[in-house]
Amino acid sequence: MIFAVFDGYDSMSQYACDHYVDFISSRELCVLGLATGSTPELFYEKLADSCKRGEVSFKDVETFNLDEYCGIDASNDQSYLSFMKRHLFDKVDIPKGAWHLPDGNASDPKAACHGYDEAIFDAGGIDLQLLGLGNNGHIGFNEPSDSFPVGTHIVDLDSSTIEANSRFFESMDDVPKRAITMGIGTIMCAQSIVVMATGRGKAGIVKRAFTGKVVPQVPASVLQLHRDVLVLLDKDAAAELVPALKGDARLFLYDDLSDTDF
Ligand code: F6R
Repeated sequence: MIFAVFDGYDSMSQYACDHYVDFISSRELCVLGLATGSTPELFYEKLADSCKRGEVSFKDVETFNLDEYCGIDASNDQSYLSFMKRHLFDKVDIPKGAWHLPDGNASDPKAACHGYDEAIFDAGGIDLQLLGLGNNGHIGFNEPSDSFPVGTHIVDLDSSTIEANSRFFESMDDVPKRAITMGIGTIMCAQSIVVMATGRGKAGIVKRAFTGKVVPQVPASVLQLHRDVLVLLDKDAAAELVPALKGDARLFLYDDLSDTDF
């Protein structure tokens, strides 16, 4: 794991954008795993602007999102499909049909889960997977549990996740309680992974996930076992991790943070 720490959200998002522009441009075809949530919003904005300026093209890119809610229509403003269209797909030159999200409303959920894993496999697997980090350590919607789920599956969302997601809905009753998500096995099969986290509220879970024991109760901890993970953090999210990693060759401080007293 490599840890890169930035002064703020903007420079972290810019670094992520530059990384993706280089990654996409260096390949003829490319399969990206994508995430939603607040964390990647500015990154997507910068990536879409880069595409507008002709610095990167999505015409040979295929994407698979991590997850989607169950029980709300795909046309709902808060569906992850709507999020992705708003923040990326409608703003870049990705061909129609080259982006995929799991179907949260499939009449046969088991077949939908299996079909999603098969589609990823048929595309050649994910080259670069983007992840956010839930306050409870979830990645995708793999919530803390007693085991690591392997493939795409339907999940009952944790009460803390429902609470965190409620900021996007009018009332608590409107917040979806179930979702369909890639499994930990699917995520761990990605060639490379980029994790992003910002804000002081994530500092505790960032430290636990990346320096604590690998346990399914902290799903993101499994990433310690992957051989190519880049963790991008603003200094607030890194506040508890940096002291634990001081002197570690895997830690890179950007934006003149070397003198910052973490
Ligand atoms: C979103 C997803 C989630 C989020 C996580 C962090 O597709 O899979 O795991 O990445 O809940 O969300 P934010 O960025 O809103 O803090």
